[in-house]
Amino acid sequence: MVKLARVCACIALLFAALAPSLASARVRVEVDRDPVVADESFDVTFTSDTRDAGDPDFAPLERDFDILARSSQTSLQIINGRPESGQSWVLSLIAKRSGRIQLPSITFGKEHSEPLVLDVRPSAGGGADSDVFLTVEASPQPAYVQAQILVTVRLYVGVQVGNATLSDLQATGAVIEKLGDDRRRDEMRGGRNYTVFERRYAVFAERSGTLTIAPVEFAGALLGRVYSIEGIVVTGRRRGRELGFPTANLETSNELIPPHGVYATMVTIDGTFHGGVTNIGTRPTFGDSGTTVETHVLADVGDLYGKTMQVAFIQRLRDERRFEDVDALRTQIEADRRRAQGLLSRLSV
Ligand SMILES: Cc1cc2nc3c(=O)[nH]c(=O)nc-3n(C[C@H](O)[C@H](O)[C@H](O)COP(=O)(O)O)c2cc1C
Repeated sequence: MVKLARVCACIALLFAALAPSLASARVRVEVDRDPVVADESFDVTFTSDTRDAGDPDFAPLERDFDILARSSQTSLQIINGRPESGQSWVLSLIAKRSGRIQLPSITFGKEHSEPLVLDVRPSAGGGADSDVFLTVEASPQPAYVQAQILVTVRLYVGVQVGNATLSDLQATGAVIEKLGDDRRRDEMRGGRNYTVFERRYAVFAERSGTLTIAPVEFAGALLGRVYSIEGIVVTGRRRGRELGFPTANLETSNELIPPHGVYATMVTIDGTFHGGVTNIGTRPTFGDSGTTVETHVLADVGDLYGKTMQVAFIQRLRDERRFEDVDALRTQIEADRRRAQGLLSRLSV
């Protein structure tokens, strides 16, 4: 069943959010929000300025938190003008109760992090039952005229949606600039898994008083199963035909694009469905930059330039990657095409 959904969120008063961070001698600990809400997952990052920190023992965290996911990476930082390699661990946690809860000191071999007290608010239940909902946060509060206010809009999607769009932020008496690309992550809320799309703005108030931000609106079709986007076919670099796989490059306005990768897709052109195989990414084999959404339509549909096309993502096939040469890329795309064809032939739409 396809259901149209429209939800909105607005704020009349700007309130503070995001802040915490505490340094220890060697291992720093940072939390991606403050306060934390019980039932909502949040990320904690432990960062060591060296790569020799020992293996961490995260067991003390388990008394008050569930550990949902854990990852680590090494990083290069410039400290006092000198390159230093460090290491960080990111944990996705969920608090087992509300109140002031201590994130205990964690031991990393001979190093340790300082304890950090978190303000864990009880879950308001807000949105956790909803398939789709929006939140808006602003900081700092109060803010000064002409000083930057960071406004973060988060769209929580617990089901598959199609043609999803988020309206841009609007406020009278303020200059608004969008900051970077939308971010995407998974988050648990009320025992439910949501995909969170985050959009950030810098807002500069032009006069003193209360600044009211107009409602931010999400519109989309609740598909239950398949996520789709819509746009206009534009010209690419025209290498596709030489490769033997002509592609239709989709230009979308404000649509939320799935993560980079290759997908088996169903496309709709002039009301007709066709199978397709879609690459979302930067085409690293050619050293290109900027994300494109390009689809090789399995049927011969001729020149699609200027047409409206809808792309529904059926299954992710693989990551986009850099190939040694064009022949290796061509062989891989042929394998992708066959796989998509096999998958789509078993699909009843
Ligand atoms: C199914 C499919 C998979 C692709 N996978 C990759 C990939 O892994 N790495 C890459 O650099 N480009 C990949 N591409 C993008 C091609 O490089 C791109 O289609 C070609 O450069 C043509 O670009 P153009 O439309 O701008 O002419 C893929 C394209 C398709 C259709």
